[in-house]
Amino acid sequence: MPQEAENIWAKKASPSPSSEIKPQKSGLDKIRIVGGKRLEGIIPISGAKNAALKLMCAALLTDKSLHLENMPNGLRDIQSQTELMEHMGCVIARERDLMAINAGRITKPEAPYDLVRKMRTGILVLGPLLARFGEVKVSLPGGCAIGSRPIDLHLKGLEAMGAQIKIEQGYIYASAPEGLKGTTINFPKVSVGATENLMMAATLADGTTILNNAAREPEIINLGECLIAMGAKIKGLGTPEITIKGVKELHGAAHDVIPDRIETGTWMIAACLTGGTLRLKNAQLDHLTALVAPLQEAGLNIEQSERDIIVSRNGQPLTGIDITTEPYPGFPTDLQAQFMTMLTLCEGAGMVTETIFENRFMHVPELCRMGANIKTQGNSAIIRGVTGLKGAEVMATDLRASVALVLAALVAEGETTINRIYHLDRGYENIVEKLNNCGADIKRVPPES
Ligand code: UD1
Repeated sequence: MPQEAENIWAKKASPSPSSEIKPQKSGLDKIRIVGGKRLEGIIPISGAKNAALKLMCAALLTDKSLHLENMPNGLRDIQSQTELMEHMGCVIARERDLMAINAGRITKPEAPYDLVRKMRTGILVLGPLLARFGEVKVSLPGGCAIGSRPIDLHLKGLEAMGAQIKIEQGYIYASAPEGLKGTTINFPKVSVGATENLMMAATLADGTTILNNAAREPEIINLGECLIAMGAKIKGLGTPEITIKGVKELHGAAHDVIPDRIETGTWMIAACLTGGTLRLKNAQLDHLTALVAPLQEAGLNIEQSERDIIVSRNGQPLTGIDITTEPYPGFPTDLQAQFMTMLTLCEGAGMVTETIFENRFMHVPELCRMGANIKTQGNSAIIRGVTGLKGAEVMATDLRASVALVLAALVAEGETTINRIYHLDRGYENIVEKLNNCGADIKRVPPES
């Protein structure tokens, strides 16, 4: 265990540190941006939210401590996950980008509605808790702005491993009195969350589990490597067939969260839109191959220099490109809204097809209010480039749509106000500071102003 991690653990006096890491700002705040500034400078890329949340769940598989480094700071989703795990009896300590979690004294293996509804990854505690305790009660996550987001694949997979599951009054009651048994699970569609939940559950199952048609996202590799460091036996990470040989118990470990590829991609698109040059510190280009080719084609120079990515516009007008979202290594749905914002200013037209979530075009009407020319039909959108966007008052209902509006505002003429930035706080660390440092005119203001 690294000395620093030992130190934060030693300093931990009482088991309720949430206040230390709670975002202090209100989600009802607004962001005001005066557009038209070129972005020039350095943006440090945070640890990946979507990896960090699952790594926290991995800590539930053992009574020993898990130490996570490069954790994103001050994100609302991480705070919600912390509250959920503390509610169960986990002890969590935090200092800068380090987090230490001990699930040695879990008193209630359950996830109540109030804590799960804020953050859908609450469902990811199901597999680890069931595998370790044999019984668990987890609230159904409920709907979500970008689609219905069912969890049938998670539940069917656990049932195939011998779990008995009933759903009553909005709660999943899962039990496996004789423990989970290894089996072969053929996913009918690729699911990041189901792959993660079942991979974690299988680490403590009796026998070998094979996950076919598994998701291949870098976050899954990051989680799998952490589980291996904790003593799990896993093969095939990053391929569609993951094999997990169950072990009796897992132990503590120290593990690094990978850089956030969606944040990285967002700022690459920002450079493309606004011109200028950005150096993205501690970022990994090989996690973004599906974005690199279309951005280069659109007009961005991209270079990896050791652990940084340097991006700059090539001086030509932006070209219209067609993209289709797909499971990794395809184009990520989490960058679709940002890419569409870029296409609003292209020469000619581009088409965006969304195949992962059924309702992920909610940024379209807001972009149109800023002057974009976008027509949607089913799961496709045609974006005809316009010569400029205009500032407006806008609001977004999901995380990536919110940041797509920030990007639009950075190039729009005049002032844009983005209302209720709750969603941005869920997933983008220090967004105002990071963009201000690169020359943007952006500030956070209270809701009444
Ligand atoms: C994760 C990411 C999210 C990203 C998404 C797809 C986290 C915290 N979130 O979400 O940012 O947009 O991957 O890359 O990591 N599905 C089912 N049944 C299930 C599970 C999923 O039908 O049991 C469907 C979903 O409705 C969706 C598709 O499968 O249409 C993919 O969803 P999934 O990969 O599971 O997304 P999440 O893990 O929820």
